[in-house]
Amino acid sequence: MSPYSYKITGGNRLKGDISISGSKNAVLGVLAAAMMIDGKCTLENVPDISDVHVMIDLCRSLGALITSEAAAEGSLTLEIDPRGINTYKATGASVSKIRASYYLLGALLARGGKASLRMPGGCNFGQRPIDLHLKAFAAMGARGARPEDIEGGIITLAADPLHGARIFLDIVSVGATINVMLAATKAQGMTIITNAAKEPHIVDVANFLNAMGAKIKGAGTDTIRITGVPVLPGNFSYSIIPDQIEAGTYMIAAAVTDGDVTIHNLIPTHMEPLSSKMREMGYTVEENEDNDSIRVYREEGSEIWGTNIKTSPYPGFPTDLQPQAVVLLCMAKGVSKMHENVWQNRFQYIPELTRMGASINVFDRIALVNGIERFKGATVMATDLRAGAALVCAALAAEGTTYITNAKKIDRGYENIVQKLQSLGAEIERCESPEFDPDAEA
Ligand code: UD1
Repeated sequence: MSPYSYKITGGNRLKGDISISGSKNAVLGVLAAAMMIDGKCTLENVPDISDVHVMIDLCRSLGALITSEAAAEGSLTLEIDPRGINTYKATGASVSKIRASYYLLGALLARGGKASLRMPGGCNFGQRPIDLHLKAFAAMGARGARPEDIEGGIITLAADPLHGARIFLDIVSVGATINVMLAATKAQGMTIITNAAKEPHIVDVANFLNAMGAKIKGAGTDTIRITGVPVLPGNFSYSIIPDQIEAGTYMIAAAVTDGDVTIHNLIPTHMEPLSSKMREMGYTVEENEDNDSIRVYREEGSEIWGTNIKTSPYPGFPTDLQPQAVVLLCMAKGVSKMHENVWQNRFQYIPELTRMGASINVFDRIALVNGIERFKGATVMATDLRAGAALVCAALAAEGTTYITNAKKIDRGYENIVQKLQSLGAEIERCESPEFDPDAEA
């Protein structure tokens, strides 16, 4: 069990203003991309979260120079100089701590024509293959990309040199889209990715690569064209976009506590899949005129009704907000349906919500959610990052005190979550983990 938990006493209506941090999934791709620069760069609005520190350490272990300074609102500014990279191997144990370490395959392959990586880790939502990444690298001329080439959990790719190719992704994959963009940036000729993912962080990584000197067109649409360039001069500053999932989590936390919160430093169009569902349920979601904030509250007297949600790639409803949205559906009247369409097994947190009084029946990839009056405090475990965020939302709305163990999972992706929620009036603190016997409470 992890050494600390979150202790949350629910019932306070969240009120006030908060600001969203930089996007976790964007910065992880951007850090890998930065390893390809033939110069230096400055990265701003970097969230101070543990996944980012794992990635920074991985980049340093390759020989990159990275200095970090605390900036406003708790975020980090990084000075990055990858010119001292002296290995193509990222094979240490920490590679398995995060999924996004796979971006080092594309980046190192582009940088020096060779890359060796321990198979990546990340949250466990069932099978998480990287076959699409490997097939694309093979099409671009990389050797060693067949499943049988993996030895001792390590994949080693080599190309002399990488060349452009037409890559059709038969499943829309965020990771494969970014990895192919990275590899193609320095490949000879043009690469065309069709059926590409369109998530906001894909556009952010492409913008960063273009600022480095890459030639990428079409990011954010389903066809991306990359013309390889020999040199990426760098020497620029770049600011990471706001985190869509963090913003959505706070929108849901405001709603389930019947609060009134204005969330700043977000991009309202990125929130549309959630905002439209919340409006349909009866919440008021106002985009403010400055166009970088959203206010969430419930008009007095309006009732909140359940709805049906299906996760899908952007601009669909994000799978990374699915657990938090299930908490929202629990607090609505009637029966709602959540269809998880991206991951094979992303309802592992539901037994934990059930300990808090949720009434949910899962049939394969569909959860039928019965509205309840209130959650009740309990000791529960964060099974993964977003599952942990969902438990935080439920605990904030619950009667009594909840202990969320394994809280380090939550700190992988939420900068200063305790302080941010406290500033909105929540009763939340870090504490030592309580003695917890899941069987006794099952
Ligand atoms: C990224 C996000 C993750 C999010 C997911 C979907 C990061 C670091 N992680 O994960 O938080 O939940 O996008 O929005 O950005 N697939 C294959 N073969 C592959 C690759 C993917 O079959 O080679 C399948 C997966 O099993 C899954 C689907 O494609 O069913 C989508 O996965 P993908 O978009 O690649 O997710 P990640 O990039 O790993």
